[in-house]
Amino acid sequence: MENELKIPNHVGIIMDGNGRWAQERGMVRTMGHKNAIKTLKALCLHMADVGVKYASLYAFSTENFKREKSEVDYLMDLFISSFTKEFKFLIEKNVRVVFSGRREPLPEKVLEAMDKIQEDTKNNKDLVLNICLNYGSHAEMVDTTKKICEMYKEGKIELDDINEEFIQKNLYQDLPPLDFVIRTSGELRLSNFMMYQASYAEFYFPQVYFPDFTTEEFDKAILEFNKRNRRFGGVKK
Ligand code: IPE
Ligand code: IPE
Ligand code: MG
Repeated sequence: MENELKIPNHVGIIMDGNGRWAQERGMVRTMGHKNAIKTLKALCLHMADVGVKYASLYAFSTENFKREKSEVDYLMDLFISSFTKEFKFLIEKNVRVVFSGRREPLPEKVLEAMDKIQEDTKNNKDLVLNICLNYGSHAEMVDTTKKICEMYKEGKIELDDINEEFIQKNLYQDLPPLDFVIRTSGELRLSNFMMYQASYAEFYFPQVYFPDFTTEEFDKAILEFNKRNRRFGGVKK
């Protein structure tokens, strides 16, 4: 990729379309999730290479528990094998893994695998991979509000300490705002993904299903990002 290209500091990816990808090939939906792992591995390496500093990946929403038990169970097993095996290469690649979302009601084995990869990568510095698992923006607002109320109740903060920056710092992870949100599969919605963080993000909706979101597709997205004129409420430059 050319040097003059602006690389977004924080990229969000809503990894959608796994089920349709598989169904269109006459396979069961879960095969789409399996193939998404291959795509994601290449994408993580590529994002680190081109200099993305933060990437937030929507892996499982609070609403995804509404799915058939067999699909939810498959995804939970996939998370375990990903964090204990498939994504171990991130340790050497200087990628730090953190998680956003509610721990309840994730199975104990998933939580253990999450804690382990987070611990194993905690000193890595190249790319922060924020995996949104059992994540919902509304749940995050509720949890953040409760956390701040507790601090107030314990006398650790004054009411006037609560400002926009303070709220941002007390979300699940203290990350810079999203610059670019990509949702694959052609759906044009956020589905409860990082609403606070995405307030001034640019949006991009490629038609491809996530398993086909190759590094070339990512490069196309970056070209599109470079065409945008971000004004943040100011005047066009
Ligand atoms: C995204 O793909 C993965 C998760 C939500 C876990 P989907 O499973 O939503 O695939 P489609 O949208 O039904 O095709
Ligand atoms: C959003 O996709 C969640 C993830 C990609 C993890 P969904 O497939 O769950 O969203 P809806 O139901 O189409 O809005
Ligand atoms: Mg979907």
